[in-house]
Amino acid sequence: MHAPAAPTEALFPDSLLVEVAWEVCNQVGGIYTVIRSKVPATMPAWGNRYCLVGPYFPQMAQGEFESVDDLDVHTGSDPVTAAVRSMRAQGYDVCLGTWLVTGRPRVVLINPFQTYDRLPQLKTDLWQRHGIPSPDNDDLLHQVISFGHLTTIFFKHLTAHLRGQRLLAHFHEWMTGVAIPDLRREQVPAHIVFTTHATLLGRYLAMNDPAFYDNLMRVDWQAEAKHFNIEPAVQMERAAAHGSHVFTTVSELTVRECIYLLDRMPDAVLPNGLNIERFVALHEFQNLHQQYKSRINDFVMAHFFQSYSFDLDKTLYFFTSGRYEYHNKGFDLTLEALARLNYRIQQSGMDGQVVMFFITKRPFTSINPQVLERRAQLEEVRETCRAIEEQVGERLFFAAAASQDHKLPDLSSMVDDYWRLRYRRQLQSWKTSALPPVVTHNLVNDHNDDILNFLRRSELLNHRHDRVKMVYHPDFVSPASPLLGMEYGQFVRGCHLGVFPSYYEPWGYTPLECVARGVPAITSDLSGFGDYALQNVPDPEQKGIFVVHRQEKSFDESAEELTDMMWEFVQMNRRERIMQRNAVESHAELFDWKNLRVYYDRAYSLALARS
Ligand code: G6P
Ligand code: GLC
Repeated sequence: MHAPAAPTEALFPDSLLVEVAWEVCNQVGGIYTVIRSKVPATMPAWGNRYCLVGPYFPQMAQGEFESVDDLDVHTGSDPVTAAVRSMRAQGYDVCLGTWLVTGRPRVVLINPFQTYDRLPQLKTDLWQRHGIPSPDNDDLLHQVISFGHLTTIFFKHLTAHLRGQRLLAHFHEWMTGVAIPDLRREQVPAHIVFTTHATLLGRYLAMNDPAFYDNLMRVDWQAEAKHFNIEPAVQMERAAAHGSHVFTTVSELTVRECIYLLDRMPDAVLPNGLNIERFVALHEFQNLHQQYKSRINDFVMAHFFQSYSFDLDKTLYFFTSGRYEYHNKGFDLTLEALARLNYRIQQSGMDGQVVMFFITKRPFTSINPQVLERRAQLEEVRETCRAIEEQVGERLFFAAAASQDHKLPDLSSMVDDYWRLRYRRQLQSWKTSALPPVVTHNLVNDHNDDILNFLRRSELLNHRHDRVKMVYHPDFVSPASPLLGMEYGQFVRGCHLGVFPSYYEPWGYTPLECVARGVPAITSDLSGFGDYALQNVPDPEQKGIFVVHRQEKSFDESAEELTDMMWEFVQMNRRERIMQRNAVESHAELFDWKNLRVYYDRAYSLALARS
């Protein structure tokens, strides 16, 4: 089943691999997914020659991290354990244990707060040795600086315990890369790889400059870093990029940013994969779609049917999700295309509708009480229907057993007046003339919200005649929520199409997460994933990956292409959708780490050759 581990063993049998990332046992964003999902493909090849290092935040690590017995730290003879032991002997607070995720890798977590008393000195050193400034009041920077210092100490101890092995030290993103310049300065014998998952300036500029890609060649990085007030972090990122033996990033798109914004051409591109778990039988994931779709149906009934109803069997669920970056995530393009789709469906006279979910995170005060109320009322209706069903069921059974004429009795006469009245009363108070809200929560910034402003401007407000309905859910989906009470992954399975036509996205896991679950997805050629699919996957559309062209296209052209894609999708029938999902699911393995980690191996081999 597994890709043979032999090549890696054969390539680097005498090396140790340590990957350092801020998101080890600490979920913040996409890098967590990279590190965590890669473990199962890494362990067979590296086993106990592999270790992850990250910052220790007790709240975050809780439930994900299990420390090893002190006795084992005392007696263990391998270099990582020995390094932890000798650091502890010097009074450092270092945890050694296992990350409780598939593959169960070994991890070292270091509490970044333990050197806070020495911050002034660490900051002076950074400035004097590497020209990296740091302000007084930025706590993330303080954590990063302190953690960088502690990582350097860890690597010094680790290399002292090596017995002829070579050490590959792989750092992810500037937050951990800040250790690199000191490791070089002190000539710690590590072969250093640095991967940047975006460039800091790239993200800021893309958000603020509508012609970002045209102007990229002309950016004065220092001036812009000052302008956005991110100079220390940018300097750390540059120092890591320049200090590493092998510098890498996640997509060809980010390569361009690295060249122009960091002034170093990456040595390699390391695309992101997933640990693709497949079911034994194909129908199992189709059943899951049906199962979770019916949970979404419950939400939709409660949300819309109080105002008006429609046929759920002819309803498609589209969604987008991610950080609230209106422009970078392509929310603007998605909204424009949805407005056009709405018009097209109306004009065509075809049956059915689309419900579009925007899943993102915005400050809110509470869930909209109206939305909760709708949900509660529908639950009451359901209870009453159950009671009536039970009563009629019992009575019908008796009537059938006693029947002389074999005719079906009048069922309605079998319902007590009490339930009849209750049923009528509930339905009277259930119906309303108000429109179903487009947003499920009370936003702090309701009047300045770009999504809401678009919906208001374009009158896309869940009118009865709208064929594209909107549900803006400004919070992540979670099983604890009274609205969409399920895991994000379950929600994805229940939907029909993911829509992610980003303007700026170094990689972008969201469409890949759809594909892994057999759900087709739209991406763009300005996202690393979409670009990778165009270059490396034959006929991506056949595999349910639709790439909107945004490079050198106007907003209007891209919006039209996106509208066409969605329009084609709504015209498919159920049979075609089922077949498409099968095709998507069966090609998802293209993105399994078993196939993609070869890029990492090449980077490691280069690092070993270089330093
Ligand atoms: C899955 C289920 C089928 C169901 C279908 C609905 O394939 O196994 O029983 O009919 O989903 O598909 P749809 O695209 O209409 O949600
Ligand atoms: C960064 C990028 C994102 C990528 C992730 C993992 O968060 O913005 O596009 O998916 O890193 O590489």
